Amino acid sequence: MAVGSIRVNRDFIAEPHAIYERLRAAGPVTHAQFSGGLEGWLVTRYADARALLTDPRLSKDRATALTMFPPGTENSYASPLTAHMLNTDPPVHTRLRKLVNKAFTARTVARLRPRIEKITDELLDDMSGVVDVMDALAFPLPIIVICELLGVPAADRTEFRGWAHRLFGDATPEQIAVASEAASAYVTSLIEDKRTNPGEDMVSDLIRVSDDGDRLSGTELRNMAFLLLAAGFETTANLVGNSVLALVRHPDQQAVLRADPTLLPNAVEEFLRFECPVHIATVRFTTEPVWVDGVQIPANSFVMISLLSANRDHDRFDDPYRLDVTRPLSPNLAFGYGIHHCLGAPLARLEGEIALGRLLARTTALTLDGDPETLRWQRSVLVHGLYRLPVRLT
Ligand code: HEM
Repeated sequence: MAVGSIRVNRDFIAEPHAIYERLRAAGPVTHAQFSGGLEGWLVTRYADARALLTDPRLSKDRATALTMFPPGTENSYASPLTAHMLNTDPPVHTRLRKLVNKAFTARTVARLRPRIEKITDELLDDMSGVVDVMDALAFPLPIIVICELLGVPAADRTEFRGWAHRLFGDATPEQIAVASEAASAYVTSLIEDKRTNPGEDMVSDLIRVSDDGDRLSGTELRNMAFLLLAAGFETTANLVGNSVLALVRHPDQQAVLRADPTLLPNAVEEFLRFECPVHIATVRFTTEPVWVDGVQIPANSFVMISLLSANRDHDRFDDPYRLDVTRPLSPNLAFGYGIHHCLGAPLARLEGEIALGRLLARTTALTLDGDPETLRWQRSVLVHGLYRLPVRLT
């Protein structure tokens, strides 16, 4: 089968859904060139995405991946902080995930509910008239929650937000290098502080956890703390922002949800599916040739799995371009799938439900303020979220 080729550039990122519809119809994989020099194979159909996310022939091993980037290619893997769990394969991954699971439990998350409600209410107290929802709610809520969870002092939050944004969002290689160094020094000193003054926070828990005598080493601890801080912030901000965007663009669905707030958990799943906060799952590579629906991806190729595309696949979801907060639950890929399935999914869902529930309860209408044409998606293929979202609260 002939394979198409595409450039993943600004135009693509600005309006990806229509392009993905064409790509899914054209074939199972597309050869893709990313700005920054990276080339690989883009997977766009739900069934292939799900199968490849659990295929052990697709590796995430950072050390090998680093040797595969052509010279001059921009990549954020250069930072030592990225030698974390998400960039490992079994058995290393299995061991790290088991240890972190002991610190990050369902009970830890459930206990956070009253605190998340309080933080949300305080943020909403300052919101009236026309507000930028990204700036007033979507960004501050997850950064406060994750910093409190991990024991990062309030005074250091703003700085951390800047580093996380540069490492995961939209930044030049120089900005990434500076942010990486600063974040590394910060997390190292945070851990040192927790070693001497342990508290009721997750960094202290991670220092304490052990499995049959096995513990996280100093470097593993630093990278794990960084992964938790960084992975939980921009992604959750985009869940809140993209959900509000969906509601202002679909007033009928806003009315349905206002009339029946018990639909909220269902609605959050639908928002995750409809405007997925993570665009492309983190990069993987083939350790041997892999056939996808009759097309061979050669060994040692990068593979990019588009969660955004998979979640709008007609073969998996009825009428996927329609937002329907009453849609019967059906697993979408917003949190990935397989061994790297998002560790923070229960926390993200809880934050999403509380933020949207409280915002709807305090207003009678949410409408977009200004020209919809001025909304801009972030120039990143990793995350899918807006820079600004001006909304009128009534
Ligand atoms: C992994 C999405 C929130 C921590 C992942 C993956 C996705 C994802 C797609 C898998 C990436 C891959 O396989 O390449 C999201 C979304 C979120 C969110 C959409 C918000 C709506 C969070 C939060 C935390 C978190 C709040 C932490 C507190 C992690 C970690 C991993 C991960 C640690 C790596 C798991 C592993 O390698 O075993 N997330 N995430 N995420 N996420 Fe999330």
